[in-house]
Amino acid sequence: MRRPVIAGNWKMYKTQAETRAFFAALKPQVAGSTHCDIVVAPPYTALAAAVEAVRGSAISIAAQDVHWEKEGAFTGEVSTKMLVEAGCRGVIIGHSERRQYFGETDEAVHKKLKAALEADLVPIVCVGETLKEREAGQTETVLNRQFRGGFSTLTGAEFSRIIIAYEPVWAIGTGRTATPEMAAEAHRFLRQLAAAGFTPERAAGLRILYGGSVKPDNIKGLMAQVEIDGALVGGASLDAQSFASIVNF
Ligand code: 13P
Repeated sequence: MRRPVIAGNWKMYKTQAETRAFFAALKPQVAGSTHCDIVVAPPYTALAAAVEAVRGSAISIAAQDVHWEKEGAFTGEVSTKMLVEAGCRGVIIGHSERRQYFGETDEAVHKKLKAALEADLVPIVCVGETLKEREAGQTETVLNRQFRGGFSTLTGAEFSRIIIAYEPVWAIGTGRTATPEMAAEAHRFLRQLAAAGFTPERAAGLRILYGGSVKPDNIKGLMAQVEIDGALVGGASLDAQSFASIVNF
């Protein structure tokens, strides 16, 4: 039985003060929510405030990105050690916005993933096709390429510690969600890749989240699919009330 994960990706939203206000409102609404892992990924500058705010609750804090080197002359970057010290338990890697706007490659994703695993951070690695790729019938080719580029050299033990988020780029921030069936189909394909690349047991244990316009009114349908193990939520994770209703699907 795979334990569901509901994760919020705040992207470039919320100051420290807004972060404190968010968790003050969220905590009572999810205090009894023991059915899933709850993760929130604020921007770097709000990490410490978030970690402080969730102390004593079941909510864990993740970063939205990380650099693969331990330290060095890499202006603007942050290392795994810095995230661990700040109190992060996980990190999002390879989000499509990083791939699209900041030129992140499968190779970079792979290096970040290795660094995160080495630091004992739980990686949430994003994959997903663009609209052009889907319309050209290339969804599986793209997922296959991202899977191989990102994960193929992991050991089985390492692979069993990662979470994959399937985020079709055309569904992100567009209000256009993949239907539960479309998402489940992509998840099934990813699980097949996991079975072929690792073992059927590891594939069966792999948690695959769906991301792309997840809202309180569509989470139930998505979670009804056995292939969907949770959600990576953007816009709807910014409001405590709406994120709580997604957590409590
Ligand atoms: P939206 O939920 O705003 O579509 O964003 C999804 C996403 O990119 C989560 O990482």
